[in-house]
Parts: sequence; C-alpha cells; structure tokens
Amino acid sequence: MIADGLQWIHFGYLVGPFRANHWFVWIGTLYIAFTVPIIAISKRRYPRKFLSLFRLHVFGNLLAFLLISLHFSGQINRPAEFYPDLGTGLTLYIIMILLVATGFTHRFQLIPQIKSQTRKFVHVGLSFSFYMIMGIHILHGLGFL
Ligand code: HEM
Ligand code: HEM
Repeated sequence: MIADGLQWIHFGYLVGPFRANHWFVWIGTLYIAFTVPIIAISKRRYPRKFLSLFRLHVFGNLLAFLLISLHFSGQINRPAEFYPDLGTGLTLYIIMILLVATGFTHRFQLIPQIKSQTRKFVHVGLSFSFYMIMGIHILHGLGFL
C-alpha cells in the first residue's frame, strides 16, 4: 500500500474493460465470500483435512486482504478532483482489518484472558458484518442506493 501510495508501483492500468485494481478487489471479495463458508462446511465434513483447510483459510484470506488493500490504497490516493465520497467502502475496509486482527488474536491466542469461544464468536460475527456491508456497498457503488 505504501509503494502504491508513493507511486513506486501502479495498478491503475486497464486489463480488458476495467482497471487492474478493480479486478483485484473483485477477485479478493469473491474469494472470501465463497471460500469462507465452503471451507467451514468442508472442515466438518472432512475432519481429517482440518489442518490443510484451516491453512487455506488463513493464507487464502490474507492474500485476498492484500488484493483488497491495493484497491483501497488506489481509492484513498485518488486525485482531489475525483476523490471518492468515503462511506460504505471505508466501513468495509475497517471490517476487513478487524477480521484479520481477530483472526490473528484467535489463531495465536494473543489475548489469553479472553475465552476461546468469545474470540471465535467475535471473529465469526464480524464476517456477517462483512457480508451485509458488502451488499450495501455494491448497491451504493452501482447507484441503486
Ligand atoms: C472488501 C472489499 C472492498 C473494499 C474495502 C472497497 C473499498 C472502496 C472504497 C474505500 C471506495 C471509495 C468510496 C467509499 O468509501 O464508499 C470504493 C468505491 C467503489 N467500490 Fe469498492 N470496495 C470493496 C469491494 C467492492 C466490490 C466487490 C465492488 C463491486 C461492484 C465495489 C464497487 C465499488 C464502486 C463501483 C465504487 C465507486 C464509487 C465512487 O466512485 O464513488 N467495491 N470501494
Ligand atoms: C479476512 C477474512 C476472514 C473471514 C471472512 C473469516 C471468517 C471466519 C469464519 C466464518 C470462521 C468460522 C469457520 C468455522 O466455524 O468453521 C473462521 C474461523 C477461524 N478463522 Fe477466520 N476469517 C478471515 C480471516 C482469518 C485470518 C487472516 C486468520 C488468522 C490469521 C483467521 C483465523 C481463524 C481461526 C483461528 C478460526 C477458528 C478455526 C476453528 O476453530 O475451527 N481468519 N473465520
């Protein structure tokens, strides 16, 4: 994000009809939206594959977060005359940061005073906010709200 902000790297070029950083956010968002529930169900159905599925959850979501962060950086560094009206997108990015932070807190038991069930409850609860705000953000971005 720093490299993008300082214009050392640049993802505003067109890939087909859309800019590269728009493809990034769509891939990252679709990945999270579909794989999170698929992995959660698969973990219960194939308990022996728990570790591999769990690693996929962590590393896949971190990679998706990287793609989403590059898009966010593109948005907040837009020139003043085209500056976006920060609202639902900013809220969504804050939710993403909280998801990653609570994921790490749960994974590495960073705050052992908080019970494991509570840590997981907060992490999973935030993913519901992600789905709800994403729906609102897309409708708002496309001009339906
Ligand atoms: C977690 C994923 C995403 C994040 C963090 C994000 C972030 C942002 C931010 C910060 C803005 C600037 C305006 C605002 O704050 O509302 C924005 C604008 C926009 N986003 Fe997203 N976005 C995400 C996913 C998506 C997806 C999947 C779409 C698919 C349609 C989308 C469509 C748009 C559109 C059309 C705008 C332009 C609004 C304008 O120019 O005023 N975003 N996004
Ligand atoms: C960024 C998007 C993310 C979303 C939407 C998300 C969502 C979820 C959901 C819904 C669950 C419950 C799955 C189940 O009950 O089987 C879960 C579990 C978990 N997630 Fe995430 N997560 C994300 C990122 C991360 C990251 C980056 C980490 C770690 C660094 C992480 C660590 C964990 C842990 C430790 C569990 C508990 C696994 C278990 O006890 O079965 N998550 N996550």
